[in-house]
Amino acid sequence: MAYETLHISDDNGILLVTINRPQALNALNAQTFTDLKAFFSEDAPKRSNIKGIIITGAGDKSFVAGADIKEFLALNPESASALSKRGQDIFFLIERFPKPVIAAVNGFALGGGCELAMACHLRIAGANARFGQPEVSLGIVPGYGGSQRLIQYIGKTKAMELLLTGGMIGADEALQLGLVNYVVPQGEEVEKAKEILGKTATKGPIAIQKVIELVNAHFQVGQDGFEREYQEFGNCAGTADFMEGAAAFIEKRKAEFKGK
Ligand code: COA
Repeated sequence: MAYETLHISDDNGILLVTINRPQALNALNAQTFTDLKAFFSEDAPKRSNIKGIIITGAGDKSFVAGADIKEFLALNPESASALSKRGQDIFFLIERFPKPVIAAVNGFALGGGCELAMACHLRIAGANARFGQPEVSLGIVPGYGGSQRLIQYIGKTKAMELLLTGGMIGADEALQLGLVNYVVPQGEEVEKAKEILGKTATKGPIAIQKVIELVNAHFQVGQDGFEREYQEFGNCAGTADFMEGAAAFIEKRKAEFKGK
């Protein structure tokens, strides 16, 4: 499938999704959301053999500099609320994707860009990465989950400060706060993400999917994460992969998982 705003490439089962609007610092316009929705709901789920997905931004300055502010002037309360809900739903598709999704943050991750990175399972920051939720500077609140996920990652104290001031933090502070997993030299974000996906791809695919579901369950209203955990522990115990993983350990060999 060809996309107007995304460039997709496949490197040995690792899909690299590049948000490709460098002239606007990869700001998320309506078409980008349409493309992300099509990719994560139709295209990617069909590629059952992939190891995982990396999301990055075109160019060397910006991951994603937020929602496209040029589309904001036409908004009214109803259309703005619908835009926000649609964005949230598309980011849930990413957060609930059954294979690891890693944000390779190669510059500005502001507003919707920070929210996109937070919807991914892991975040690798280049040394030039800058994170922030500057929406209050525009007189509005975050719309794609930022007011909720930022608290999940960095806690209420710092989340409140970042959200209230609209300020930016650099890669090292993001690492110290727990917003990102690693900081790497500028330009090495995708390589680091590939290294991690190389490791997760050797694990049991069903277990990987269930770990994603269980961690998400902790934050989903109405879900009992502990109950889900013992249920999924039982479900995994019924898979051929679990038998293979346990046997491989005892026989001191590498497990050959089949995803069954
Ligand atoms: N929406 C639409 N266009 C954007 C954009 C956004 N969120 N962020 C940047 N752009 C565009 C600029 O309008 C500019 O386009 P132009 O050359 O046609 O004028 C181009 O990208 C380059 O941006 P510029 O501001 O010139 O780069 P800079 O290096 O001086 O500043 C930022 C970089 C990221 C600090 C600045 O662009 C910025 O503050 N962007 C908005 C961030 C934001 O508030 N995001 C949250 C939105 S809810």
